[in-house]
Amino acid sequence: MSRNKILVIGANGQIGSVLIESLRNIFGVDNVIASDIWKNEDENGRFEIINALDSARIAEVVDKYKINQIYHLAAILSAKGEDNPQQAWDINMNSLMNVFEVAREKGVKRIFFPSSIAVFGNNAPKNNTPQDANLSPNTVYGISKVAGELWAEYYFDKYGLDVRSLRYPGVIGYQSEPGGGTTDYAVDIFHYAVKGETYHCFLKEKTALPMIYMADAIRATIELMAAPSVNISVRTSYNLASASFTPSELADSIKTFEPDFKIIYKPDGRQLIAESWPASIDDNQARMDWGWKPKYDLQGMTADMIFHLREKYGLLAGSAV
Ligand code: SER
Repeated sequence: MSRNKILVIGANGQIGSVLIESLRNIFGVDNVIASDIWKNEDENGRFEIINALDSARIAEVVDKYKINQIYHLAAILSAKGEDNPQQAWDINMNSLMNVFEVAREKGVKRIFFPSSIAVFGNNAPKNNTPQDANLSPNTVYGISKVAGELWAEYYFDKYGLDVRSLRYPGVIGYQSEPGGGTTDYAVDIFHYAVKGETYHCFLKEKTALPMIYMADAIRATIELMAAPSVNISVRTSYNLASASFTPSELADSIKTFEPDFKIIYKPDGRQLIAESWPASIDDNQARMDWGWKPKYDLQGMTADMIFHLREKYGLLAGSAV
């Protein structure tokens, strides 16, 4: 159907593991090569071990499969990055530079690089944060994403490398687990709720953050990558939004399905990170340029999460939904 040969780096991660499936459905199993630093035992398509800090290894795999698109998803997220900032910078930046350089040298046509709401800091408006708001992040993760966005634009301007990027909000999905992020609570909470356990939330109850359901995040990524180049006016990274809510609003939404659900607030160091980020995002540029439109609101994502997690934990029969 298509001659795309796609390499996904970081394919075992929260987004990568789901994206791989969608890409294989669209482009064919043999045309999508998964890679990560370890092999997932569930993986049954084409897979290569790649440490993205090893540019020769990336080049070898690009040559082997004649790759013409790379999705580079490997990164250390916001909270984990603060434990070892130098290591987070090393992994996030040098892996990205390796991907850009290999792509330039080997003539890879198109690159996807995920950015994040973490590019914003306390100098950006909190509500409906605009596309061109001030970028002054105070996490190493955010700093690496701002630098990555600028390098993306540089490679496009200087070498014509077609790099495309989204500033993901917190991504919520039942298929995979997040790791090391500040928005992870919004996934963890569902697992506790469905299993009938009390959730100890590491953010305060009124801390609003922008979020997106996995299905929307994957669709946005694929739609952006499929858009005609002339439509892409932002070569740093597009703001992307769906729903925005606080932990207590999420807990209330969950209670409509799990009425006995209990949440206890025990904010930790991640609270400060969350407070430095937007509460909601203006994604008009993405809507205008390539027709972005989210499908899931808070209630829609809650319903779908609960359904699938009940299924996963074998709790569907006799459920009250
Ligand atoms: N979900 C990410 C994090 O919390 C933000 O991009 O680190």
